[in-house]
Order: sequence, then C-alpha cells, then structure tokens
Amino acid sequence: MSNRLNATPNDLRAFWMPFTANRQFKQNPRMFVSAKDMHFKTAEGREVLDGTAGLWCVNAGHCRPLITEAIQKQAAELDYAPAFQMGHPKAFELANRLVDITPEGMDHVFYTNSGSESVDTALKIAIAYHRAKGDGSRFRLIGRERGYHGVNFGGISVGGIVSNRKMFGTLLTGVDHMPHTHLPQENSFTRGEPEHGANLADELERICALHDPSTIAAVIVEPVAGSTGVLIPPKGYLQRLRNICDKHGILLIFDEVITGYGRLGAPFAAQYFGVTPDIITSAKGLTNGVIPMGAVFVKNEIHDAFMNGPEHMIEFFHGYTYSGNPIASAAAIATLDTYRDEGLFERVGDIASYWEDAIHSLADAPNVIDTRNLGLIGAIELAPIEGQPTKRAFSAFVRAYEKGVLIRTTGDIIALSPPLIVEKAHIDQIVETIREVLGEVG
Ligand SMILES: Cc1ncc(COP(=O)(O)O)c(C=O)c1O
Repeated sequence: MSNRLNATPNDLRAFWMPFTANRQFKQNPRMFVSAKDMHFKTAEGREVLDGTAGLWCVNAGHCRPLITEAIQKQAAELDYAPAFQMGHPKAFELANRLVDITPEGMDHVFYTNSGSESVDTALKIAIAYHRAKGDGSRFRLIGRERGYHGVNFGGISVGGIVSNRKMFGTLLTGVDHMPHTHLPQENSFTRGEPEHGANLADELERICALHDPSTIAAVIVEPVAGSTGVLIPPKGYLQRLRNICDKHGILLIFDEVITGYGRLGAPFAAQYFGVTPDIITSAKGLTNGVIPMGAVFVKNEIHDAFMNGPEHMIEFFHGYTYSGNPIASAAAIATLDTYRDEGLFERVGDIASYWEDAIHSLADAPNVIDTRNLGLIGAIELAPIEGQPTKRAFSAFVRAYEKGVLIRTTGDIIALSPPLIVEKAHIDQIVETIREVLGEVG
C-alpha cells in the first residue's frame, strides 16, 4: 500500500479529468455544486450564468422538474432491463416519439450512450449496409478537416482535429478528408450562413476520382462544426454534398450531436437547412444532458436492408449494455415533453436575431478577428498571442468564470451555446462580460 496516494475526501489527485488542463485546474479548482435553469452555483456559493448549456447539452436549462421526476420515478420502478433480446416499453415509446421529429423517411433509431458511440455506430451501420446489399467493396469513410466526431477510434479517424488524432497511431485505414469550410478572407464577420465556399463541396468529387466512388461507403460532416470553434456551412454547401453523394451512391451522415434537439430552431439541422442525410447521429440534448444517451437515426431503406435472413438470427451485431436504458429513456421522454410543452425549438427562432446582434456587437472588442452565429450558436475568434496559441482565450474563459459567466473556448475561439430558455437579459450579461474580459486579458 506504500505507493498509494494519500487520499482524503478533498484530494483532487485521483481523478484524471477529461479534456482538462489537470494541473492548472487542481491548483485553482472551479467546482459546481448545484444548478437551476440558466445558472450553476459554485462551491463558494457564487452564481454562474451558463453560456454553453453545459457542453452543448442542457438545452432546456438545469434541473427541470419533469425530467427530474421522470428519472426518480423510473429508478424506483424499473432500474435496468437487459438490452439484448429483451425490451421494456419506455425504449419503444421513446423511439416512436423521436421518429416523429426526424426528417421524413427516417423512422428507425439505434440507441447508444454518447455522441462518440453514436458516431462509431453510424460508421458501422454505413459499411454494414453496403455489405448487406451485396456491395462489400464500399468501405472507405470520408470526413473533413477540423471535424469533431467524438473520441472513439472511428470518430477520431474521420475527425480532423489534429490534437485529438496525433497521439493515437494509425487510426482506421481507408479514411480520407475533405477540406474544412473556414474562409476568413472571404467570410469574416458574416451574420448567419456565409456567402462563399459552397464550391468546397466539390473536393468530394476529387476524392471520389482518386479512390473511385465505388469504394466509398459514407461521408460524415457536422452540419455546423462546433468543437473546432463554430464553422457555419457556406450557403448551398450541404446541398452540394448531398447531390454528390446521391450521384455516387454514397451515404451522407450528419453528425448532429450538438445541432440536434433545437439548437438551430428546428429539431435537427437537417430540417433547418432542408437537406436530408441518410443517417443522423445525436446525443447530448436528447436527455438534456442529464443521463448519458445517444441515438442514431437511419433512413428506412437502410434499416430494411438488414431485415433479412432467418428470423431467429441477430440482424446487426452491434449494441451496448445500456442501449435504451430505462432511466435514460424516461429522461429522454420527459426532455422531449419539456421541449414541446415550452415550445423551446420555436423559441430559438424568436430570439436568434437578438442573439445575432449581440454576438456581432463584439466585433470591435479588443483582439476580435471574427464573429459568427447561427440559431443559438455564436463564436468570437481572437487573435492568438504571438507564440502562445490558446492562451488569450483560456485567460478569457477563466476571467469570465470569475465574473459569473461560463463560456467555452477552443483554440483561440470563444464558442457560445446557451440553453434554449435564455432571456435577453442573460444574452446582455454574456456579451458585456466577454467585452470586459477581452479588455483585461490583453
Ligand atoms: C459533433 C459531435 N460529435 C460527437 C461528439 C461526442 O460526443 P460525446 O462527448 O457525448 O461522446 C461531440 C461532442 O461534443 C460533437 O460535438
């Protein structure tokens, strides 16, 4: 036992925190102990306004009564049921509720526990679908530079964020990447969808010519790239990708882990942009972030392609111990009820222009080199401090937290995504605080 850490209840060493500057955090911890609606409360008793819906997930705000009650009730009634070869009613009820809000013709859902698992599930479905149809030569997966698709091996292989990939060896083979769509020269300070860059979708044609389209199973993109620092798709870009995929028989996957469940004012970005992919991945807002759960939606012909062979045989060899977990299902149903009863998706449309004005009002703040927005998403890009990339934004994050506003930073970009219940006064507070801290961090 001599080499064990001397653990006391307040010892922070044992927990290796994810995507965190562990040493910095543990010197000066930022701890939340409770939350309600738009606010967290810190261990010191300070209120912090949530400018990021947690991690883009608490779309209905914190500790909402319907969701809390549903979880409590379900935990006391049926805590767990095996997910394989057995069922429970709530998972089926939720599936029906979900396919009511998906684009037409996507009437089937496969449950996971996270966005990363949704992505890997979607990639596996895509490859297996082609094989089920007798087209096993389609195995390649095409992602995009700066894409974020979670942290599992499939997701980091098709993803394009260098620091998430470079430590992990060869990743999946048979993967290629399209260029990202960030064109600062042409599109800086654009309100909503940028004018320039739809032609970047044609890079997919180049990749098709290189590998031959008959080897490509699927293309995966975030309709709005979030984790890389909010890249809004250029006007017409997604439709162009759709057309090229159709032309070559390639499946199009939208990773809607952050855009799903109302972030743009429609249930999914697919409906917002009027472009229907073949597969949608989701998680986060599905349960309001309260219980881990993800969902992958597929077009009917994809699902149906698997439904053959002897009826006693498993059709798709994939799934998780917690797929469709009863408590997660109950939380998701109550979340959908909350979104519907409070008209939260529609609310985004009502407040989006106020949000847009607020984000772009920061265009003249110190060191701001771009502002961008869509729905209830906003980004403020800062010039990096020479030789110290990410430091300016990280300092802004720490200072904003100290002043009572939670923002998120990635690289030197501040990314904002408040709960959909955000009020104008909250938006004012977020923007005023950011302006103040940008004046201070130099
Ligand atoms: C587009 C996208 N895909 C996948 C993920 C991964 O989700 P999770 O962290 O739940 O695994 C995220 C998380 O931010 C995301 O933004």
